[in-house]
Amino acid sequence: MHGIIFLQLQRFIKSAANQEVLNTIMDDAKFRGKFFDATKSYPDEELVAILNSACKVLKLDQEVALEEFGKYITPSLLTTYKPYIKSEWKCMDLLENVETTIHKVVRASNPGATPPELVITRINPNEVQIDYTSKRKMISLGIGIIKKIAEHYNESVTVSKMSIPNGTRLNIKKSGVGSK
Ligand code: HEM
Repeated sequence: MHGIIFLQLQRFIKSAANQEVLNTIMDDAKFRGKFFDATKSYPDEELVAILNSACKVLKLDQEVALEEFGKYITPSLLTTYKPYIKSEWKCMDLLENVETTIHKVVRASNPGATPPELVITRINPNEVQIDYTSKRKMISLGIGIIKKIAEHYNESVTVSKMSIPNGTRLNIKKSGVGSK
């Protein structure tokens, strides 16, 4: 996983607690003093170890923590990948293009980065379906990203999820829009 994600996870923990607690968590995960470089990639297991320790020390539910972390990283993801986000897009347009535009660029520009292969369908102007299959099982991170993207566009959405073989299907609907 991308070094940016590690750096952001450390920042997220620090903002939820403080530097001392972050040190305790890094100690617990056996990574005290380790420096993560934003231009490099690191094994997924290291991210999971830090996340697990954070949940243990801060007594957080893992899925809640992942969703909050997803929300936390979204503003910087939107800034980093701004050149690929069309100015006329709204929330549903960006979601529709995450795989073909954004994750594709992430893969091409960061050797070693492997964002999930999302299968995205625009059901109608106000609804997008995202099928997530990844061995990382981090769908809650994706849900946090989606909610923050909606907030960024001043839109409100409802996100529902169901299981599919080897993964999860998300249905994202713009709320406050009638079906008439
Ligand atoms: C502007 C929008 C987005 C950007 C810039 C972005 C970028 C990224 C980046 C840089 C990573 C790290 C990949 C790695 O290091 O291997 C990642 C991973 C991930 N992305 Fe996205 N992403 C976006 C939207 C989304 C959305 C809408 C979802 C919804 C499902 C999503 C789901 C995930 C998940 C779950 C991961 C963790 C890796 C995994 O589970 O395989 N992303 N994304």
